[in-house]
Amino acid sequence: MKLIKPALEYEKQFFELLQEFDDEDVSMFWDKDGKAKDDIPTYIKNTQAYEKWEEFKFFWGKAYTFWLLDNNHLIWMINLREKAEWKYLQRWGHIWYAIRKSERGKWYAKKILALTLLEAKKIGLNKVLVTCNTDNIASSKVIEANGAFLENVILYKGSNISRYWIDLT
Ligand SMILES: CC(C)(COP(=O)(O)OP(=O)(O)OC[C@H]1O[C@@H](n2cnc3c(N)ncnc32)[C@H](O)[C@@H]1OP(=O)(O)O)[C@@H](O)C(=O)NCCC(=O)NCCS
Repeated sequence: MKLIKPALEYEKQFFELLQEFDDEDVSMFWDKDGKAKDDIPTYIKNTQAYEKWEEFKFFWGKAYTFWLLDNNHLIWMINLREKAEWKYLQRWGHIWYAIRKSERGKWYAKKILALTLLEAKKIGLNKVLVTCNTDNIASSKVIEANGAFLENVILYKGSNISRYWIDLT
């Protein structure tokens, strides 16, 4: 099991993963209009740019995308952002993740979030804010299993959002 950076080599698998999200309300980070599927090479190029892009300095900071491979099978994607200070980001936090539908419920998520926290340390974060809809029981369990402290629950656009901090020191 390993985290990799998005790579064209896995284009077909990534396309299949995105198709699995089509019938549910999961919108991929950086792809709010759902266009990544039509142009995966550009999506991959963008993820590389976001790791360097100065425009994000006052917004997300740099942002890193990882995919998880298990036995060469693509099952997971994650975004890790340098910043979560701005008011809006206090709802979204440093990390966003999703696992392909066909691989859920196999206890992958807890382990993979732990791997991602190691990446967060590598980019210099001492603590991370991770949020989820309060009624997303699976995600809450994944976050809590990684040593999270629930700071509060806020109302954002009609939904209750649980805001957790994970200490990385
Ligand atoms: C949230 C998500 C990543 C969980 O991934 P997963 O691999 O299915 O989770 P796991 O198998 O590791 O299960 C974690 C825990 O949640 C529980 N769980 C899993 N699916 C559940 C469900 N639908 N309802 C209630 N509990 C659930 C598991 O039993 C496990 O708890 P346990 O260890 O006490 O048994 C996945 O459901 C997902 O990608 N959802 C869509 C995107 C999303 O919501 N992302 C989170 C944004 S914050």
